[in-house]
Amino acid sequence: MDGVTRIESALADSVLLAEAVGAPPRLAAAMRHAVFPRGARVRPRLVLAVAASCGDDRPALSGAAAAAVELLHCASLVHDDMPCFDDAETRRGRPSVHRAFGEPLALLAGDALIVLAFQALARAAVTAPERLPAVMMAVGDGVGVPFGIVAGQAWECEPRADLSEYQRQKTGALFAAAAMAGAAAAGREAEPWRTLGDKLGEAYQVADDLRDAVADEAEIGKPVGRDAALGRPSAVRSFGIEGAVARLRELTAGAVAAIPCCPGQEALGALILGEMQRLLPRKLAQKAA
Ligand code: IPE
Ligand code: IPE
Ligand code: MG
Ligand code: MG
Repeated sequence: MDGVTRIESALADSVLLAEAVGAPPRLAAAMRHAVFPRGARVRPRLVLAVAASCGDDRPALSGAAAAAVELLHCASLVHDDMPCFDDAETRRGRPSVHRAFGEPLALLAGDALIVLAFQALARAAVTAPERLPAVMMAVGDGVGVPFGIVAGQAWECEPRADLSEYQRQKTGALFAAAAMAGAAAAGREAEPWRTLGDKLGEAYQVADDLRDAVADEAEIGKPVGRDAALGRPSAVRSFGIEGAVARLRELTAGAVAAIPCCPGQEALGALILGEMQRLLPRKLAQKAA
């Protein structure tokens, strides 16, 4: 099975749990809406790419780690779009979860997806229980305190935030979690994979800031201009468009350079460079060409 099929099937298995007989159907529908249809699935693909580079000898665990990381990402988007955060009406070209199901169910669907991620990991652990703590720690650190997504989003409630710290925590941390969980699921030490994830995630957020400033809603499937409207720290605000593009290139090169020595090192580097090229808003990509 290729990576995307493994990811979609692991996610489908997870979401089915919410649809058990006797469970509240609108909550299940809101959760499904948050996970399907797919976005770029870049984080779970990173989990599987790193696991593959490390031998991937426990595919049930790496598959569950990939699903867990994506479920957490989807949960973060549901909460991020709510009126108390970015107040975004669309996501992936459709109404965001609170627009389709209302705020109470959006809050609960996000909560349930977070728990579902850890349920998925626990269920897969029978195949390699001794590896579960490392996978669990990597994933938990990516979303919680002191430096995960929750911490990153909390900088929006502080009077001042350092841009790089803010981006590393709200976005880089889950990329670091993805890379580290992929290695840990394959029985390798996770720590050497942290820098790659951190840099890649920060680069990804810089690209997202550029899309927010330069793309249009039809191109990216979510509202644009939100960062400026909400006064968010962003790479475009700090460095301007050209400065942000330069920062994106610098971080991407740093990410490739940080790939630990492994059999899949070259393939992983090529994957990252291709992915980053795709992320430039159309207008900027045409200009660069
Ligand atoms: C959006 O992430 C939020 C950021 C942290 C930039 P993605 O751009 O990966 O969103 P999907 O999953 O493809 O919709
Ligand atoms: C990432 O930042 C949000 C999360 C960590 C959930 P953004 O607020 O820029 O992401 P988008 O633009 O809404 O996808
Ligand atoms: Mg947002
Ligand atoms: Mg954004």
